[in-house]
Amino acid sequence: MKRDERKEWAARLDAIINTVVDGIITIDERGIIESMNPAAERIFGWRARDLAGRSVNNLIPHPWAEHHDGYIRRYLKTGKAHIIGIGREVRGLRKDGTTFPMDLAVSEVRIGARRLFTGIVRDITERKRADEAIARVSEEERRRLGQELHDGLGQQLTGVTLLAKALQSRLARDGHPAQADAAEVAMLLGRVLDDMRRHAHGLYPVELERGGLAAALEELALTHRQLYGVDCRLDICGAMPAFEKPAALHLYRIAQEAAHNAVRHGAAKHICIRLTRSASLFLLEVEDDGRGYRPRKSNPGMGIQIMRYRAGVLGAALSVRPSGRRGTRVRLEWPLPPAGRRSS
Ligand SMILES: Nc1ncnc2c1ncn2[C@@H]1O[C@H](COP(=O)(O)OP(=O)(O)OP(=O)(O)O)[C@@H](O)[C@H]1O
Ligand SMILES: [Mg+2]
Repeated sequence: MKRDERKEWAARLDAIINTVVDGIITIDERGIIESMNPAAERIFGWRARDLAGRSVNNLIPHPWAEHHDGYIRRYLKTGKAHIIGIGREVRGLRKDGTTFPMDLAVSEVRIGARRLFTGIVRDITERKRADEAIARVSEEERRRLGQELHDGLGQQLTGVTLLAKALQSRLARDGHPAQADAAEVAMLLGRVLDDMRRHAHGLYPVELERGGLAAALEELALTHRQLYGVDCRLDICGAMPAFEKPAALHLYRIAQEAAHNAVRHGAAKHICIRLTRSASLFLLEVEDDGRGYRPRKSNPGMGIQIMRYRAGVLGAALSVRPSGRRGTRVRLEWPLPPAGRRSS
């Protein structure tokens, strides 16, 4: 390429970088910011010249900022990337101290002997708001359906069951031979009522309000044992954080979908729902011994996507992987913010 051509090419590249809607930030291998384009300035509220030469941790909120230098060091040492070339939803930190959700794609650039990292960021606050509104509406719809099932159909079925029992008693008193049939009808109606109640609880887990996440998951495990005949257990390690209701509902729905998938797709015999709390991390795992997870290319379902969305709202990472030689493990990893900031 001739010198003039090279100059024109560089000017064109500059014009593109300065006008794209995505933020572009380059850092060196110590995590020091080298450049920010105008979109990145807008997104984070910083002037590029004020941040040049300072750590990229100025753009990452607590507690992730503290881990970031370690991530780069580990990548440089082991070559194992958690984000480079993958792309992820993370939280960004603005100059005014507020945080926001963003899509981040990181790539590595080698210029001579130097290694630079380029981050492309997109503020997804609006998209998340719309997603949240949809999730809220569908949650309200489930709640309404659950209540309708419980209060409407449930009450009518209860009435008919009582009638059948009264009929059976009367027939038994009269020594009527049809009393055995009436007893069977009453028994079957009782079973239908139990199943329906469990479905209503699945639509809206009232236990979540009464006894918190652990109580609701205990009920979920019981439902799976009784309704589907699988050995479903809840295992709790460590003192559970006091989750706020929206966060508890997201965690419950993730476990519910994972357990449901284990029965429906994995034909699992055993399911273990595990909650683990350590000083800085909360883990929710749902492990089954079924057929194993093999994602379908055609006609993908919505369950895992919604699980990922819910994990994203919490600021947690979610993975779905084969577990051991058989089965599937869904794992949600939530770095816990300092006490008192645990909302959804
Ligand atoms: N525990 C599991 N065992 C085996 N396969 C699984 C398991 N969980 C998910 N899968 C596979 O991953 C696919 C996607 O799951 P996902 O929950 O996203 O959708 P779905 O269950 O097919 O439909 P939806 O959840 O929308 O009703 C499933 O169709 C199934 O092939
Ligand atoms: Mg599913």
